[in-house]
Amino acid sequence: MKTLGLLLVAALALSGSYAVDKNNFKTCDQSGFCKRLRGFKPEKSQYTLNLDTVLVHGNVLSAEVNTVDTSTPQRTVLWHYALRLSALVDGTFRVEIDEADPLYPRYRTQLALKEEPKADGLKLLSNENGKLTLANTQGQKVIITAEPLLLEFVNAAGEVAVVLNDNGQLVVEPLRVKKERIDDDEANVVDVQEEEGTWGENFKSHHDSKPRGNEAVSLDISFPEADHVYGIPEHTDKFSLHTTTSGEPYRLFNLDVFEYDLDSRMAIYGAVPVMYSHGTKRSAGVFWHNSAETWVDVVNYADSTVVSSLVNLVTGGQKRRVDARFMSESGIVDVFVFLGEKPADLFRQYTALTGTAPLPPKFSLAYHQCRWNYNDEDDVRGVDENFDVHDIPADVIWLDIEYTDRKKYFTWDHLKFPHPAEMVANLTAKGRKLVTIIDPHIKREAGYFLHEDATEMGYYVKDKDGKDYEGWCWPGSSSYLDFFNPVVSKYYAERYQYDNFPGTSKDVHIWNDMNEPSVFNGPEITMPKDCRHYKPPQDGNDGLAAFWEHRHVHNEYGLWNIRATHEGMLLRDNSKYRPFILTRSTFAGTQRYAAVWTGDNAAEWGFLAVSVPMCLSLAAAGVSFCGSDVGGFFKYPEAELMTRWYQAGAFQPFFRAHSHIETKRREPWLYEPATTALIRDATRRRYALIDFWYTLFYEHSIDGLPVMRPLFQEFPAEEDTYTIDDEYLLGNALLVRPVVEPGVTSVKVYLPGAASRTLWYDVDTYHAHHANGYLTYDVTLAKIPVFQRGGSIVPRKERVRRSSALMADDPYTLVVALDINGTAQGSLYIDDGETYEYLNNKHIYAKLTFEPNAMTYSFIDENAHYPTRSWVERIVIAGIKSPPKTAKLTQAGKQTALQMTLHKGNDVLVVRKPAANMAQPWTINFTY
Ligand code: GLC
Repeated sequence: MKTLGLLLVAALALSGSYAVDKNNFKTCDQSGFCKRLRGFKPEKSQYTLNLDTVLVHGNVLSAEVNTVDTSTPQRTVLWHYALRLSALVDGTFRVEIDEADPLYPRYRTQLALKEEPKADGLKLLSNENGKLTLANTQGQKVIITAEPLLLEFVNAAGEVAVVLNDNGQLVVEPLRVKKERIDDDEANVVDVQEEEGTWGENFKSHHDSKPRGNEAVSLDISFPEADHVYGIPEHTDKFSLHTTTSGEPYRLFNLDVFEYDLDSRMAIYGAVPVMYSHGTKRSAGVFWHNSAETWVDVVNYADSTVVSSLVNLVTGGQKRRVDARFMSESGIVDVFVFLGEKPADLFRQYTALTGTAPLPPKFSLAYHQCRWNYNDEDDVRGVDENFDVHDIPADVIWLDIEYTDRKKYFTWDHLKFPHPAEMVANLTAKGRKLVTIIDPHIKREAGYFLHEDATEMGYYVKDKDGKDYEGWCWPGSSSYLDFFNPVVSKYYAERYQYDNFPGTSKDVHIWNDMNEPSVFNGPEITMPKDCRHYKPPQDGNDGLAAFWEHRHVHNEYGLWNIRATHEGMLLRDNSKYRPFILTRSTFAGTQRYAAVWTGDNAAEWGFLAVSVPMCLSLAAAGVSFCGSDVGGFFKYPEAELMTRWYQAGAFQPFFRAHSHIETKRREPWLYEPATTALIRDATRRRYALIDFWYTLFYEHSIDGLPVMRPLFQEFPAEEDTYTIDDEYLLGNALLVRPVVEPGVTSVKVYLPGAASRTLWYDVDTYHAHHANGYLTYDVTLAKIPVFQRGGSIVPRKERVRRSSALMADDPYTLVVALDINGTAQGSLYIDDGETYEYLNNKHIYAKLTFEPNAMTYSFIDENAHYPTRSWVERIVIAGIKSPPKTAKLTQAGKQTALQMTLHKGNDVLVVRKPAANMAQPWTINFTY
């Protein structure tokens, strides 16, 4: 099996044919609940709220909801449900619908929320004519119609922004006991006929025993007058989501998809069930808090594929509305509704719930060199040295699975890596780091301490019969740690102690791969859904109530894995240093622990191009720290593609080259010198902006706004931006339009902000362009179209060294790009780059402002200080109309006259050697 797999991979890597085997993965029709629910199109919802049961207490309205058979005069109640509507701070509401008295508790996703959401006030304003009207303290309202149940969410402007169950597709399938009867001979138990698949489903050779039967949930969510919806990564589709009626729904189910497809709604490694709507009228968002397999249908009434009869029926002919429908295999209906005004408000609301990425160690924002595999210590040394020989900065060398003793994680192959500590010391001498891979599958080999411990202590995920589940992964026969058990997570975390993982130190960081989890011989290459996970005993201990099935928790398995790793990395040095973790599986909340990459792409232009919408979509879903394998994982990138990929990667948050074991080596110096030079240039650009990146991530850790952002986040009224996903903004200052097409001499760039007369400065020439929509921009192979927004200040470090750590004390060049009023603003964050001391006020968070008469550097956090030795060596002011005559620096009471020179068409002013120390505030006064 393993050899076969590797042979296939090798054949692919060499032959160049690349295509997903769709037979390995379910379509909606092959997924019992998706087929069942998608076919369910009721005239009218059976769900009815019982107005006599309404209770408003604190921030929660609770009420009984029943399904009622309205076709009979008796109106028979079919099932009882409990509805909870909670008002949360910041214009967020939460709606939970569970069975009132389920046979066993239904799974509630555990790790996505960073903490219990904070309550806002909730007031019942009226209860009349079968409608309840409620309001939070922010002026947002909810109108609940009792029959059929309908919830309308009204934003602060008084407009209905989100409607639940307008299409009557709310479903919570009740848990039932399997009906059995004794056959006529009274000898055998015979199944009572129920809908096929209720108590078991087959896919290929796999049987899912479904011990709880059908337990799916679904809800339709409408966004009136919306133009587009976004989100629900991870897919290779466009950023703006498509109507799905004539094809497959978007699928959210974390899967290891070998040779994944482009332009696809198929599930891949990550699943983040958050969706945003946006349009000229308003924005809104929802978070579907569910970790089970989920499918999402989208109908955008503006799409030509949506039949006009439907448009007329629902919107009275107005082609503005988007409907989504979420369908999950299990769990409860638990949906958060965001009523923020603008896209940025919604992104903030979402990260307020699921957390923001904490400030990463600075090195992790620099360049990473990876390959499956660097073969031995000599190889690592050679790669490390070659970066210096070729004057290309690099911060991290990575080791893939082959460094281990035959895929036993937390061990080393002692023949190839006899001196890991020395190897690491050799890297750290230049400020570099090592990342090693640790996958969650555990080799089932007698004598392997991890396997023996896990077997003895019962730490593995169990199969449907309660035995240790065995699957197949890189090591061959493997079992999987059950991180849902706190004891297992603690045990696993302790494996990262330096003593337990010899050769590691604070400079060794971790890559958790294959954590969907990937199981080569499992259904859809993952774990069978009827496998059993730990469940805390207090929730009931009998029969089916004693464990969760994998189906309930699947999409959050990887999150539990990285959380344990994160805990371990804190534990190993008493929370002194900030850990860096890379994960492939992604779920809501992943950003609290790890960066994400887009998995096994290929050296093809389409995969380079898709890295932008994929990372934009993840960023909107809270995961800003995203990147793709630079160069492509499978296949070999020729020089032009490799160059363009480095240029794109240098401007994406996670910047790492990686490649498959069977592909030709492709370190930057293995290309022709001209290509190496372009790669060098792209990489050095990243280093010059390292403090800009670091500041963006610091700000992200506080405000939760995407680092890599869609244009419409900053220009929400500008319709043209709604579908742009081949360019993006970094913070609000840089606009990046990577070249992702072969052989081009120009690209189309959209410059937003015409209405506000925004200027965009080419960062290479300081040439200012007035925003005016699309323009055709000439590019050479050396050109990366990047523009700095007029009105921004960007910190740069021009003395690029071997690693970012070696640049810590280097001086800054501050690039001031003036807006039409001749002003600009920016910020700068500085700290030690690696510890948590910044939380004890050992950092600088400063504001830079430029007004015609003065430029100032002042501390936003006035109590925070850091003794940086960095100083300002140059200030470049682009777009200056009339240059000042004198410039005088004031710092710590001392005044110094400064030299200035004019450049270009006399509109670029350089203030030379201000030599202001960045540890203290300063001001430069200009006279004219
Ligand atoms: C998976 C990862 C890939 C890695 C390989 C071997 O395919 O996605 O990045 O190199 O496993 O560990």
